[in-house]
Amino acid sequence: MKKKLLGAFLSVAMTASMLVGCGGGSSAPATTDSNETTEAPAAEETKEETTEAAAEETAETTEAAETTAGGGIVGVAMPTKDLQRWNQDGANMQQQLEAAGYTVDLQYASNDIATQVSQIENMISSGAQVLVIASIDGDSLGTVLAQAKEAGISVIAYDRLIMNSDAVSYYATFDNYMVGTKQGEYIEQQLDLKNADGPFNIEIFTGDPGDNNARFFYGGAMDVLRPYIDEGKLVVKSGQVEFDEVATANWATETAQSRMDAIISANYADGTKLDAVLCSNDSTALGATNSLEANYTGDWPIITGQDCDVANVKNMIAGKQSMSIFKDTRDLAAKTVEMVDAIMKGTEAPVNDTETYDNGTGVIPSYLCEPVFADINNYKELLIDSGYYSESDLQ
Ligand code: BGC
Repeated sequence: MKKKLLGAFLSVAMTASMLVGCGGGSSAPATTDSNETTEAPAAEETKEETTEAAAEETAETTEAAETTAGGGIVGVAMPTKDLQRWNQDGANMQQQLEAAGYTVDLQYASNDIATQVSQIENMISSGAQVLVIASIDGDSLGTVLAQAKEAGISVIAYDRLIMNSDAVSYYATFDNYMVGTKQGEYIEQQLDLKNADGPFNIEIFTGDPGDNNARFFYGGAMDVLRPYIDEGKLVVKSGQVEFDEVATANWATETAQSRMDAIISANYADGTKLDAVLCSNDSTALGATNSLEANYTGDWPIITGQDCDVANVKNMIAGKQSMSIFKDTRDLAAKTVEMVDAIMKGTEAPVNDTETYDNGTGVIPSYLCEPVFADINNYKELLIDSGYYSESDLQ
């Protein structure tokens, strides 16, 4: 019975992942039946949840861990409820793992490293057989994961690579470098950098230095844009170009916003036009957008993002954000569940990259799902027709 269910689930998951090109090279939109998908929380709901986050986050699923369903216990450690995407990731993982017969211990750590470490310790002592971890700081889990290894527990790094730990068996993520190149190429095309004379003004915002992904996003985008900066066709008036200068601690909207406030007042308050803002994700894009709305009077710049968070898609519809990278978290969850299942059954886990992600102890076999970009022209097809959002979520 369980096998049958699992088989049915896997075939749905595989069909869905083929349709959306999760590693399959296609950028076609998903056409998954909405019954099989987790509805994304509306922005307001996410906010409400966040308020009581810390308390709930710890209590939430210890209970779940106590009721074993026979398939085994999987610990899922997520960084925070503050950002919409991790709520979706957690919900998708829980739903899909449970559908496959596993008991799930899902924890959110309020972006606090010590909390995440102690949650993982609890997962280990409560009998988790596999840990799926989206780390807050990729470098801070070495000690606790050594305990996991000692206890024979397998670890899958989820979305963000866990660094300098030989306890990590697999990495499931999106192609992070490609996220960056797509953002850079979007700006290149919109400003017609190959043909136009310029110069154009650009400012740059990337993510948390403790998140290994941030360097890939930044690196991918800068591989496209840096030649134009070097030749003077793109000008960064703030002078802030290098990773450490443009990083945003914790990917915080408020931090990006206040940095943009300072940049505008020093460089664009006199009406100087800002042509583009490279933002590595939606939370930083939101900060840049809020600041521009409050302080900037010139023509609206191109603004990039990532995640297709509800607030940002609304901004896209309102003409305030130009694009966002769409990473269908349902597909990442489906791939990760396939990995969990392979570990549990001792079969081969799906991987499609064995070169890119060295975590300091060697290359971690990875599965990279393919990101696509969403803008005003294709968001309906990508986000609504696929059942990721309903029309009313975006109103
Ligand atoms: C994820 C992004 C997300 C960012 C902030 C990154 O590791 O890949 O999708 O926007 O973290 O949470």
